[in-house]
Amino acid sequence: MIKACIFDMDGVIVDSAKYHFLAWRRLAAELAIDFTEEENEGLKGLSRVDSLEKILLKGELHLDNDTKVALMEKKNSWYLEFIKGMQPEEVLPGVREFLEELKTNDIRIALGSSSRNAPRILEAVGLTSLFDSVIDGNKVTYSKPDPEVFLLGAKEVGVKPSESVVFEDAQAGVAAGKAGGFYVIGLGEADVLDQADIVLPNLENFTLERLQSLMVH
Ligand code: BG6
Ligand code: MG
Repeated sequence: MIKACIFDMDGVIVDSAKYHFLAWRRLAAELAIDFTEEENEGLKGLSRVDSLEKILLKGELHLDNDTKVALMEKKNSWYLEFIKGMQPEEVLPGVREFLEELKTNDIRIALGSSSRNAPRILEAVGLTSLFDSVIDGNKVTYSKPDPEVFLLGAKEVGVKPSESVVFEDAQAGVAAGKAGGFYVIGLGEADVLDQADIVLPNLENFTLERLQSLMVH
């Protein structure tokens, strides 16, 4: 019995994951650190600070805290430039329809995102009112792969993890969902998201009926 669906945002609701990558790659280039798309897979879902630490580790750079804060601000200002003027049309295929179907069927909807920019993006694409709870990077202590963000989401909508489904595009997010005891649907490549219960390319034409049939099999 499914009572709640919890969605990651970047790469699940909107295609902003590519902008995070572009902004991190630009920052890495300024620091003379090579940063590939493959390495970016390991960063997806992590908090801003954890992402920076991974890049610095790769470059074997040891920086003081003030410098790190300045670098994160720089990356975020580039990222905000990319997403500036984001429109409702940029919601990924099938997402709005699926959310509306969940709402009609009285299934709770929560956001479980590591991003501190999540509320502003939901607002820009006109989805805020569909969410019963929004847990973002400002509300958690531990970043994915820790399950905190999803556990908080489930708690806020009053549903147990075992009755909730998590939708994720990142390895760290899939791991977080599994660690929290959720059924996890990976969105993307099966070989990348191999910890998920099932992997779909995206949510295009996805329905509640399909979700229920996946979970009984
Ligand atoms: C996650 C993204 O949703 O949010 C990461 O997958 C990103 O790539 C993280 O680094 C933090 O986002 P923000 O918007 O707070 O910098
Ligand atoms: Mg994501």
